[in-house]
Amino acid sequence: MIGFDPQTSCFFLSGKNFSYVFAVNGVGMLQHLYYGHQIAASDAAFLIKAHGEAYAPQADDLNYDMRTDDMLSECGSFARGDFREPTVVVERADGARMSRFCYHSHKIVKGALPLKGMPCARKADETLVVTLKDDFSEVEIDLKYTVSEDSDVLVRSLAVRNGGSDPVQVKKAFSFCAELPDTRRNFSALRLTGSWAKERAPVLSPLAEGILRLHSSRGYSSHQMNPFLALLEENAGEEMGECYGFALLYSGSFAMTAECSHNGSIRVQGGISDELFGWKLCAGEVLETPQAALCYSREGLGGMSRAYHDFFRESIIDPKYVHARRPVVVNNWEATYFDFDNEKLFAIIDEAAKLGIDTFVLDDGWFGKRDSDTSGLGDWVVNGHKLKGGLQAVIDRCKQKGLRFGLWFEPEMVSEDSDLFRAHPDWAIAKAGVEPCRGRNQLILDFTRKEVVDHVFAAVSKVLRENDISYVKWDKNRDMTENYSASLSPERQGEFWHRYALGFYDLAKRLTEAFPEVFFEGCAGGGGRFDGGALYYFPQIWTSDDTDGMERTKIQWGTSILYPLSSMSCHVSACPNHQTQRTTPFFTRGAIASLGATGYELDLSKLSFEEKEQVKAQIENYKRIDELVLKGDLYRLSDPFHTNYFCEMLVAKDKSRAYLVGEQFRADPCDHSRVLRLQGLDAGTIYCVEELGLKASGGALMDAGLILPHLGDCGAWGLHIEKA
Ligand code: GLA
Repeated sequence: MIGFDPQTSCFFLSGKNFSYVFAVNGVGMLQHLYYGHQIAASDAAFLIKAHGEAYAPQADDLNYDMRTDDMLSECGSFARGDFREPTVVVERADGARMSRFCYHSHKIVKGALPLKGMPCARKADETLVVTLKDDFSEVEIDLKYTVSEDSDVLVRSLAVRNGGSDPVQVKKAFSFCAELPDTRRNFSALRLTGSWAKERAPVLSPLAEGILRLHSSRGYSSHQMNPFLALLEENAGEEMGECYGFALLYSGSFAMTAECSHNGSIRVQGGISDELFGWKLCAGEVLETPQAALCYSREGLGGMSRAYHDFFRESIIDPKYVHARRPVVVNNWEATYFDFDNEKLFAIIDEAAKLGIDTFVLDDGWFGKRDSDTSGLGDWVVNGHKLKGGLQAVIDRCKQKGLRFGLWFEPEMVSEDSDLFRAHPDWAIAKAGVEPCRGRNQLILDFTRKEVVDHVFAAVSKVLRENDISYVKWDKNRDMTENYSASLSPERQGEFWHRYALGFYDLAKRLTEAFPEVFFEGCAGGGGRFDGGALYYFPQIWTSDDTDGMERTKIQWGTSILYPLSSMSCHVSACPNHQTQRTTPFFTRGAIASLGATGYELDLSKLSFEEKEQVKAQIENYKRIDELVLKGDLYRLSDPFHTNYFCEMLVAKDKSRAYLVGEQFRADPCDHSRVLRLQGLDAGTIYCVEELGLKASGGALMDAGLILPHLGDCGAWGLHIEKA
């Protein structure tokens, strides 16, 4: 619901459980009043009186600009008395950068607003657009707020418009500014950090005076820092306490800041990285910023995660695929790496068919001169020496066996030893005269250039058009360095990162629209581009190259803080694990992989008879629970970072059934912490816990709990809980 009271000039927004309130104050600025648990719209007058007037600058006060430093603002401005981090900074033709953005007009429209060239919420109930005008220039800002009655997510973004005749340089344009006043909640900041094979590990630290800055300058969202920040009140836990989430729906270099300022408030902002940013706006031009999804929960982190999961499933992920049964794939990467031929692939395909797997995905190495990672990227033409009979022979084999076929691409990359590079050396990101940095022996194509994106679109389309391909794995295996395009004028080099992101989105949009029957999985050296922007095009993303049965519990736990399980590709791989050298039981690897879009990443033809029987059983089990993975509510019960157990539970929305997976890391005969209290069930309903042969009310299962069985090192259990 979005309301505007002309008497008080107050905007009152609410979603499922939250309210968000701000007003035009005495000097025409947008003053923030409240963000938190839902309150009545009739309390707006109280908010203005009690929370607004204390700080509101008055028009007859000569010094009022300086008082904006104490004001909670909807958009921080620069060089006019608000000394906190600004939200938007615009430099005019004469170099002047001071702005005072004041209310000009607003409109409330039905539904969500499309965002040209970028991912955005597909649906919502209503959107508010408030237009602000700079008192000193012709620059305008549209602040956008989108809400839905059934969601705890508030979507925000802004657009900067040059209404004048001279060009201006936008030096900074974050997507949102949100202010949380000091209400004695002693917030801590949670972020998802990591590296290759260790993505999205949650890190919680107290906030203190100064600025906490999260960012990626790698050209994409990155393994190291997810574009997400949550503020947790003191003592908030998995299922209790207040949490505010801030997630960017963006895949490029980004920055997010939380500034604890002198006035006791916390200003949270984020968007396109402002590091060396600059965007030239000519007369009449508009710069749109990516959307950010803000979430409020007073049911702890778990409540926030469930609200985000619903949001991603309802509003971001392609509706055609989001609830559709996912293909159970076998991928040949860890089975063969680059060393494969028809026979090796056929052996995997034949075995996959016997075990109930439905899609075979051919990974890196099928194209160009690609026998190692030193060559071939960019040449999306089959390597006929390796694959006799080309892709067709492999696809035919899949078809004979009743399997579908998937293929790996790394569309944004080029090897120097490739026909593409030899023909267009200038298409790689580099600066003439400067030796380019190599990463995994490769360079990145300059996607700020339309002709480069057009070429890749044509090359990938040709393969998809000429072959029966139902699944694409879209990889990206290095960080961006030189951040320079020969095709951009000097004053536009600050646009590079964002223009690259727009090029990536352009290709993703064109390919997914041209091939709607192809299921696209995202990947970036594991889970390096796992963000709300990428999920718009890729319903699932390869979560991590680390598939070890123990490490994966942490990676999936951290990822689930923001992203739904159905968006995580999770495969069973061989032991000793290729990343950690650890051996974990086959059952455990299957149980952990069932908490996502499941599949296999090993040489099926080398499995023992018992392991093959387990694969069959795992797939049978998956078919039983995949509805819960796709649509259920997640409850995280035992934290793998701080306890000896990992445990998560999926509950059907109607609470008729649940599925619980857990793992014990170290065997411990004296472990007295084996009582596990379930969550999310209906207290008054009687449930059967199938594997334990127990019957109990939801209340007893949640309050008294289950006693976990003793297991060996890395032993796991999977329990089916159904209404009796
Ligand atoms: C990345 C991916 C892997 C695999 C390789 C192929 O590392 O994460 O799954 O596709 O590239 O080179």
